[in-house]
Amino acid sequence: MTPPPEVRIKDLTVVYRTPAGELPAVSRVDLTLSPGTITGVVGESGSGKSTLALSLLNAVQPPGRIAGGSVEIDGLGDVLRLGGESLRRTRGSRIGYVFQAAQNSLNPLKTIGGQLLDLGRSHEVDDLRGLVREAKDLLARMGMDGARVLDSYQHELSGGMRQRVGIMLALVLNAKVVVLDEPTTALDMITQATILRIVREIHEERGLTTLVITHDVGAVAEVADTLAVMYGGRVVEHGPVTDVLGSPEHPYTQGLIRAIPRLTGDISLARALPGRPPTLGTLPVGGCVFRERCERRMEVCETVEPARTDHDGRSVACHAAPLTPAKHKEFV
Ligand SMILES: Nc1ncnc2c1ncn2[C@@H]1O[C@H](COP(=O)(O)OP(=O)(O)OP(=O)(O)O)[C@@H](O)[C@H]1O
Ligand SMILES: [Mg+2]
Repeated sequence: MTPPPEVRIKDLTVVYRTPAGELPAVSRVDLTLSPGTITGVVGESGSGKSTLALSLLNAVQPPGRIAGGSVEIDGLGDVLRLGGESLRRTRGSRIGYVFQAAQNSLNPLKTIGGQLLDLGRSHEVDDLRGLVREAKDLLARMGMDGARVLDSYQHELSGGMRQRVGIMLALVLNAKVVVLDEPTTALDMITQATILRIVREIHEERGLTTLVITHDVGAVAEVADTLAVMYGGRVVEHGPVTDVLGSPEHPYTQGLIRAIPRLTGDISLARALPGRPPTLGTLPVGGCVFRERCERRMEVCETVEPARTDHDGRSVACHAAPLTPAKHKEFV
């Protein structure tokens, strides 16, 4: 078995053209996905999670454009330099993916099995029977009748079933890097937990390097090894999931965690994060992007964007972090 690849995202900036000019949705992001680990990405709507995920496949579409940086994957080189046929071959067979709202992206005119065969042929899979067997096996593991699903059209499946089909299609070509953007949002909480557990099992069996995006900080705690927290197009905090959730250092991460009753254990203690997440147009320019919602804001936050500081395998970009233990008690 080939070892799991490392994925190195360096200084990545992605912009969208808007009436106000090109504005960054992902801004100078550095993030390494360690081989064989699952990295979870959380952050409110609009923080740039999907834009980051699309960049890993060099699949940002106009009016968006990758304005700088690199995405290096062991054995593939810089994905941002791939184009045409080599990029097409890479997607699916080397990097498996489920795009956000994948449950709506199936072809309505073909059965799932037909689409599976198209996928296999477009990647020159010789053993199409083997591919079908593999697909049935994956669907069965996710609690579905594989033969029936492959014979179905998308309108015959529920949103949750389509989402599992999406996960199957991401895994069926045996890609070593897998990117899942909100793969379980159409599922109820229990099914969601089950499916994420199966993703984790397959990830371990096959030795993958996986990125999972979710709104659900509680779900990510179950599935991920490492957590990246995004805000306003930046990765504001990153580290082992137990550390980041157990002793969050960025005020934004602290706010996210406090907002979840399931994690705080007591509904009455859950507090919504004040204010609203920024859009491209309302993102402050210069200084810290989080300052307007931050309870620890200082003068320097108005003018200087905080640099990332690293310690003990984790990193945080905040002028007020890391906190001293006494301060930590006060804020968390
Ligand atoms: N095609 C587009 N044109 C213009 N702006 C866009 C486009 N796609 C995304 N954006 C903007 O880029 C920012 C990041 O969007 P993105 O979809 O990456 O966020 P996200 O974290 O995935 O959000 P969600 O949790 O809602 O999926 C947002 O402000 C969004 O409005
Ligand atoms: Mg998204």
